[in-house]
Amino acid sequence: MKVTVVGAGAVGATCADNIARKELAQELVLLDIKEGLAEGKAQDMMQTAALLGFDTKITGSTNDYAKTAGSDVVIITSGLPRKPGMTREELIGTNAGIVKGVTENILKFSPDAIIIIISNPMDTMTYLTLTTSGLPKNRIIGMGGTLDSARFKYQLSQQLNCSAADLNAIVVGGHGDTTMIPLISIATWNSVPVTKFLSTDQQKQIVADTMVGGATLTKLIGTSAWYAPGAAGAALVEAIVRDEKKLFTCCVSLDGEYGQKDICLGVPVVIGKNGWEKIVEFKLSDEEQASFNKSADAVRSMNDVLKTL
Ligand code: 2OP
Repeated sequence: MKVTVVGAGAVGATCADNIARKELAQELVLLDIKEGLAEGKAQDMMQTAALLGFDTKITGSTNDYAKTAGSDVVIITSGLPRKPGMTREELIGTNAGIVKGVTENILKFSPDAIIIIISNPMDTMTYLTLTTSGLPKNRIIGMGGTLDSARFKYQLSQQLNCSAADLNAIVVGGHGDTTMIPLISIATWNSVPVTKFLSTDQQKQIVADTMVGGATLTKLIGTSAWYAPGAAGAALVEAIVRDEKKLFTCCVSLDGEYGQKDICLGVPVVIGKNGWEKIVEFKLSDEEQASFNKSADAVRSMNDVLKTL
Protein backbone atom coordinates (compact mmCIF):
# COMPACT_ATOMS: atom_id res chain seq x y z
CA MET A 1 0.00 0.00 0.00
CA LYS A 2 1.32 3.47 -0.89
CA VAL A 3 -0.07 6.67 0.57
CA THR A 4 0.84 10.27 -0.27
CA VAL A 5 0.17 13.28 1.92
CA VAL A 6 0.36 16.54 0.01
CA GLY A 7 1.28 19.47 2.23
CA ALA A 8 3.87 19.01 4.98
CA GLY A 9 2.43 21.70 7.24
CA ALA A 10 1.10 20.83 10.68
CA VAL A 11 -2.02 18.99 9.44
CA GLY A 12 -0.21 17.03 6.72
CA ALA A 13 2.69 16.08 8.98
CA THR A 14 0.36 14.98 11.80
CA CYS A 15 -1.67 12.93 9.37
CA ALA A 16 1.52 11.28 8.05
CA ASP A 17 2.72 10.65 11.61
CA ASN A 18 -0.55 8.86 12.46
CA ILE A 19 -0.41 6.81 9.26
CA ALA A 20 3.15 5.69 10.00
CA ARG A 21 2.49 4.87 13.67
CA LYS A 22 -0.41 2.66 12.61
CA GLU A 23 1.59 1.17 9.72
CA LEU A 24 -1.25 1.87 7.32
CA ALA A 25 1.14 1.86 4.36
CA GLN A 26 4.44 0.30 3.38
CA GLU A 27 5.37 3.50 1.57
CA LEU A 28 4.38 6.98 2.67
CA VAL A 29 5.33 10.09 0.69
CA LEU A 30 5.11 13.56 2.16
CA LEU A 31 5.20 16.31 -0.48
CA ASP A 32 5.41 20.07 -0.15
CA ILE A 33 6.33 23.02 -2.34
CA LYS A 34 8.63 24.51 0.29
CA GLU A 35 12.21 23.36 -0.39
CA GLY A 36 13.35 20.72 2.09
CA LEU A 37 10.31 20.90 4.41
CA ALA A 38 8.82 17.51 3.47
CA GLU A 39 12.24 15.82 3.33
CA GLY A 40 13.09 17.19 6.78
CA LYS A 41 9.81 16.19 8.40
CA ALA A 42 9.92 12.76 6.73
CA GLN A 43 13.42 12.18 8.08
CA ASP A 44 12.39 13.39 11.55
CA MET A 45 9.46 10.95 11.54
CA MET A 46 11.67 8.12 10.29
CA GLN A 47 13.91 8.74 13.29
CA THR A 48 10.93 7.86 15.52
CA ALA A 49 10.58 4.43 13.85
CA ALA A 50 13.12 2.78 16.15
CA LEU A 51 11.40 4.31 19.18
CA LEU A 52 7.82 3.65 18.15
CA GLY A 53 8.42 0.40 16.32
CA PHE A 54 6.93 0.95 12.89
CA ASP A 55 8.17 -0.17 9.48
CA THR A 56 6.44 2.30 7.20
CA LYS A 57 9.02 3.92 4.92
CA ILE A 58 8.46 7.68 4.83
CA THR A 59 10.08 9.82 2.15
CA GLY A 60 9.83 13.55 1.55
CA SER A 61 9.64 15.35 -1.76
CA THR A 62 9.86 19.00 -2.77
CA ASN A 63 7.18 19.15 -5.43
CA ASP A 64 8.44 16.10 -7.33
CA TYR A 65 5.20 14.27 -8.05
CA ALA A 66 7.05 11.40 -9.75
CA LYS A 67 7.89 10.23 -6.22
CA THR A 68 4.17 9.86 -5.47
CA ALA A 69 3.61 7.52 -8.44
CA GLY A 70 1.30 4.59 -7.85
CA SER A 71 -0.27 5.91 -4.65
CA ASP A 72 -3.42 4.11 -3.53
CA VAL A 73 -4.62 6.95 -1.33
CA VAL A 74 -3.72 10.65 -1.47
CA ILE A 75 -4.57 13.19 1.22
CA ILE A 76 -4.57 16.83 0.13
CA THR A 77 -3.90 19.28 2.94
CA SER A 78 -2.28 22.01 0.80
CA GLY A 79 -3.19 25.65 0.98
CA LEU A 80 -3.33 28.39 3.55
CA PRO A 81 -4.66 27.65 7.04
CA ARG A 82 -7.04 29.97 8.89
CA LYS A 83 -5.77 32.89 10.94
CA PRO A 84 -7.70 34.05 14.03
CA GLY A 85 -10.93 35.79 13.04
CA MET A 86 -10.94 34.31 9.54
CA THR A 87 -13.62 31.95 8.26
CA ARG A 88 -12.66 28.83 6.28
CA GLU A 89 -14.57 30.36 3.35
CA GLU A 90 -12.19 33.33 3.10
CA LEU A 91 -9.46 30.94 1.93
CA ILE A 92 -11.20 30.04 -1.31
CA GLY A 93 -9.33 32.47 -3.60
CA THR A 94 -5.90 31.09 -2.76
CA ASN A 95 -6.71 27.48 -2.01
CA ALA A 96 -8.86 26.70 -5.07
CA GLY A 97 -5.93 27.19 -7.47
CA ILE A 98 -3.60 25.20 -5.21
CA VAL A 99 -5.96 22.25 -4.76
CA LYS A 100 -6.78 22.11 -8.49
CA GLY A 101 -3.08 22.10 -9.42
CA VAL A 102 -2.24 19.45 -6.82
CA THR A 103 -5.04 17.17 -8.02
CA GLU A 104 -3.88 17.45 -11.64
CA ASN A 105 -0.30 16.59 -10.69
CA ILE A 106 -1.36 13.70 -8.48
CA LEU A 107 -3.53 12.13 -11.17
CA LYS A 108 -0.66 12.21 -13.70
CA PHE A 109 1.17 9.70 -11.51
CA SER A 110 -1.61 7.99 -9.53
CA PRO A 111 -4.67 7.78 -11.80
CA ASP A 112 -6.32 5.17 -9.58
CA ALA A 113 -5.90 6.94 -6.24
CA ILE A 114 -8.66 7.64 -3.77
CA ILE A 115 -8.40 11.32 -2.81
CA ILE A 116 -9.13 12.71 0.65
CA ILE A 117 -9.55 16.49 0.83
CA ILE A 118 -8.69 18.38 3.99
CA SER A 119 -7.91 21.83 2.48
CA ASN A 120 -10.43 24.57 3.22
CA PRO A 121 -13.10 25.58 2.46
CA MET A 122 -13.34 21.80 2.50
CA ASP A 123 -16.84 21.35 1.01
CA THR A 124 -16.03 23.57 -1.96
CA MET A 125 -12.56 22.07 -2.41
CA THR A 126 -14.16 18.61 -2.53
CA TYR A 127 -16.68 19.84 -5.12
CA LEU A 128 -13.86 21.44 -7.12
CA THR A 129 -11.88 18.20 -7.12
CA LEU A 130 -14.95 16.22 -8.15
CA THR A 131 -15.90 18.54 -11.00
CA THR A 132 -12.41 19.15 -12.39
CA SER A 133 -10.86 15.70 -12.03
CA GLY A 134 -13.46 13.61 -13.82
CA LEU A 135 -12.87 10.86 -11.23
CA PRO A 136 -15.68 8.55 -10.16
CA LYS A 137 -17.46 10.25 -7.23
CA ASN A 138 -16.70 7.42 -4.77
CA ARG A 139 -13.00 8.20 -4.95
CA ILE A 140 -13.34 11.76 -3.66
CA ILE A 141 -13.86 12.19 0.06
CA GLY A 142 -13.95 15.44 2.04
CA MET A 143 -12.76 14.88 5.62
CA GLY A 144 -14.75 17.60 7.46
CA GLY A 145 -17.57 15.67 9.11
CA THR A 146 -15.16 13.09 10.52
CA LEU A 147 -13.33 15.85 12.36
CA ASP A 148 -16.48 17.70 13.39
CA SER A 149 -18.03 14.49 14.74
CA ALA A 150 -14.88 13.84 16.82
CA ARG A 151 -15.12 17.39 18.19
CA PHE A 152 -18.81 16.83 18.94
CA LYS A 153 -17.93 13.69 20.91
CA TYR A 154 -15.26 15.65 22.77
CA GLN A 155 -17.80 18.31 23.81
CA LEU A 156 -20.31 15.65 24.85
CA SER A 157 -17.67 13.73 26.82
CA GLN A 158 -16.76 16.89 28.73
CA GLN A 159 -20.37 17.51 29.78
CA LEU A 160 -21.17 13.86 30.50
CA ASN A 161 -17.80 13.19 32.12
CA CYS A 162 -17.51 10.02 30.07
CA SER A 163 -15.17 8.37 27.60
CA ALA A 164 -15.40 9.93 24.13
CA ALA A 165 -14.94 6.41 22.74
CA ASP A 166 -18.26 5.38 24.34
CA LEU A 167 -20.17 7.99 22.35
CA ASN A 168 -21.93 7.74 19.02
CA ALA A 169 -22.55 11.16 17.53
CA ILE A 170 -22.38 12.69 14.07
CA VAL A 171 -22.20 16.12 12.51
CA VAL A 172 -23.72 16.48 9.03
CA GLY A 173 -23.91 19.39 6.58
CA GLY A 174 -21.06 21.73 5.73
CA HIS A 175 -17.70 22.09 7.47
CA GLY A 176 -18.26 25.76 8.31
CA ASP A 177 -18.85 27.53 11.62
CA THR A 178 -22.46 28.17 10.65
CA THR A 179 -23.09 25.31 8.22
CA MET A 180 -22.35 22.24 10.31
CA ILE A 181 -25.20 20.42 12.05
CA PRO A 182 -24.36 18.36 15.15
CA LEU A 183 -27.25 15.87 15.36
CA ILE A 184 -27.73 15.82 19.11
CA SER A 185 -31.18 14.24 18.80
CA ILE A 186 -29.62 10.91 17.76
CA ALA A 187 -26.37 11.05 19.76
CA THR A 188 -26.00 8.20 22.24
CA TRP A 189 -23.81 7.20 25.18
CA ASN A 190 -23.47 3.45 24.72
CA SER A 191 -26.92 3.30 23.13
CA VAL A 192 -28.65 5.61 25.62
CA PRO A 193 -29.73 8.94 24.06
CA VAL A 194 -27.53 11.72 25.47
CA THR A 195 -30.62 13.92 25.61
CA LYS A 196 -31.70 11.88 28.65
CA PHE A 197 -28.76 13.26 30.63
CA LEU A 198 -28.49 16.85 29.38
CA SER A 199 -30.72 19.88 29.89
CA THR A 200 -31.87 21.81 26.83
CA ASP A 201 -29.39 24.57 27.67
CA GLN A 202 -26.54 22.07 27.97
CA GLN A 203 -27.48 20.55 24.63
CA LYS A 204 -27.56 23.98 22.97
CA GLN A 205 -24.15 24.81 24.44
CA ILE A 206 -22.60 21.55 23.23
CA VAL A 207 -23.93 22.12 19.72
CA ALA A 208 -22.72 25.74 19.70
CA ASP A 209 -19.25 24.81 21.02
CA THR A 210 -18.92 22.05 18.44
CA MET A 211 -19.78 24.40 15.60
CA VAL A 212 -17.04 26.86 16.55
CA GLY A 213 -14.61 24.08 17.53
CA GLY A 214 -12.12 24.98 14.80
CA ALA A 215 -12.46 28.75 15.31
CA THR A 216 -11.91 28.40 19.07
CA LEU A 217 -8.65 26.56 18.48
CA THR A 218 -7.53 29.01 15.79
CA LYS A 219 -8.01 31.83 18.30
CA LEU A 220 -6.05 29.98 21.01
CA ILE A 221 -3.21 28.72 18.82
CA GLY A 222 -2.97 31.57 16.29
CA THR A 223 -3.43 29.24 13.33
CA SER A 224 -5.75 26.39 12.53
CA ALA A 225 -5.65 23.12 14.50
CA TRP A 226 -3.76 20.01 13.40
CA TYR A 227 -3.93 17.09 15.86
CA ALA A 228 -7.59 16.24 15.33
CA PRO A 229 -7.64 17.15 11.60
CA GLY A 230 -4.55 14.97 11.03
CA ALA A 231 -6.00 12.10 13.05
CA ALA A 232 -9.31 12.36 11.19
CA GLY A 233 -7.50 12.11 7.83
CA ALA A 234 -5.57 9.06 9.06
CA ALA A 235 -8.76 7.40 10.36
CA LEU A 236 -10.21 7.60 6.84
CA VAL A 237 -7.00 6.19 5.35
CA GLU A 238 -7.23 3.31 7.83
CA ALA A 239 -10.82 2.54 6.86
CA ILE A 240 -9.82 2.49 3.18
CA VAL A 241 -6.60 0.46 3.37
CA ARG A 242 -8.11 -2.06 5.81
CA ASP A 243 -11.42 -2.12 3.94
CA GLU A 244 -13.19 -1.57 7.27
CA LYS A 245 -16.66 -0.58 5.98
CA LYS A 246 -16.82 1.87 8.89
CA LEU A 247 -19.43 4.59 9.06
CA PHE A 248 -18.01 8.13 9.00
CA THR A 249 -19.54 11.46 8.18
CA CYS A 250 -17.76 12.72 5.08
CA CYS A 251 -18.30 15.34 2.44
CA VAL A 252 -19.36 13.48 -0.70
CA SER A 253 -21.20 14.09 -3.94
CA LEU A 254 -24.97 14.00 -3.44
CA ASP A 255 -27.37 12.96 -6.15
CA GLY A 256 -30.73 13.44 -4.50
CA GLU A 257 -29.78 11.99 -1.10
CA TYR A 258 -31.01 14.11 1.79
CA GLY A 259 -32.86 16.16 -0.84
CA GLN A 260 -29.74 17.66 -2.47
CA LYS A 261 -27.87 17.24 -5.74
CA ASP A 262 -24.91 18.81 -7.59
CA ILE A 263 -23.15 19.49 -4.32
CA CYS A 264 -20.65 17.84 -1.96
CA LEU A 265 -21.85 17.89 1.64
CA GLY A 266 -21.34 15.97 4.87
CA VAL A 267 -23.49 12.85 5.27
CA PRO A 268 -22.93 9.41 6.84
CA VAL A 269 -21.06 7.13 4.45
CA VAL A 270 -19.52 3.67 4.57
CA ILE A 271 -15.77 3.85 3.95
CA GLY A 272 -13.90 0.89 2.52
CA LYS A 273 -11.41 -0.10 -0.16
CA ASN A 274 -13.40 1.64 -2.91
CA GLY A 275 -13.50 4.99 -1.13
CA TRP A 276 -16.96 5.98 0.06
CA GLU A 277 -19.04 2.97 -0.85
CA LYS A 278 -22.54 3.90 0.24
CA ILE A 279 -24.44 6.89 1.58
CA VAL A 280 -26.47 5.91 4.63
CA GLU A 281 -29.71 7.83 4.41
CA PHE A 282 -32.26 8.27 7.18
CA LYS A 283 -35.02 10.76 7.83
CA LEU A 284 -33.92 13.92 9.58
CA SER A 285 -36.41 15.83 11.72
CA ASP A 286 -38.09 18.76 9.91
CA GLU A 287 -35.86 21.18 11.79
CA GLU A 288 -32.68 19.23 10.97
CA GLN A 289 -33.67 18.93 7.31
CA ALA A 290 -34.31 22.68 7.18
CA SER A 291 -30.82 23.29 8.62
CA PHE A 292 -29.37 20.84 6.11
CA ASN A 293 -31.03 22.70 3.24
CA LYS A 294 -29.75 26.03 4.60
CA SER A 295 -26.26 24.55 4.87
CA ALA A 296 -26.52 23.35 1.27
CA ASP A 297 -27.53 26.85 0.13
CA ALA A 298 -24.49 28.36 1.84
CA VAL A 299 -22.09 25.77 0.40
CA ARG A 300 -23.66 26.18 -3.04
CA SER A 301 -23.03 29.95 -2.97
CA MET A 302 -19.42 29.21 -2.06
CA ASN A 303 -19.21 26.75 -4.97
CA ASP A 304 -20.54 29.50 -7.25
CA VAL A 305 -17.53 31.62 -6.30
CA LEU A 306 -15.37 29.04 -8.11
CA LYS A 307 -16.83 30.27 -11.39
CA THR A 308 -15.57 33.80 -10.72
CA LEU A 309 -11.95 32.83 -9.95
C1 2OP B 1 -10.38 22.65 11.35
O1 2OP B 1 -11.58 22.76 11.55
C2 2OP B 1 -8.55 22.36 9.67
O2 2OP B 1 -10.79 22.93 9.03
C3 2OP B 1 -9.97 22.33 9.96
O3 2OP B 1 -9.56 22.70 12.28
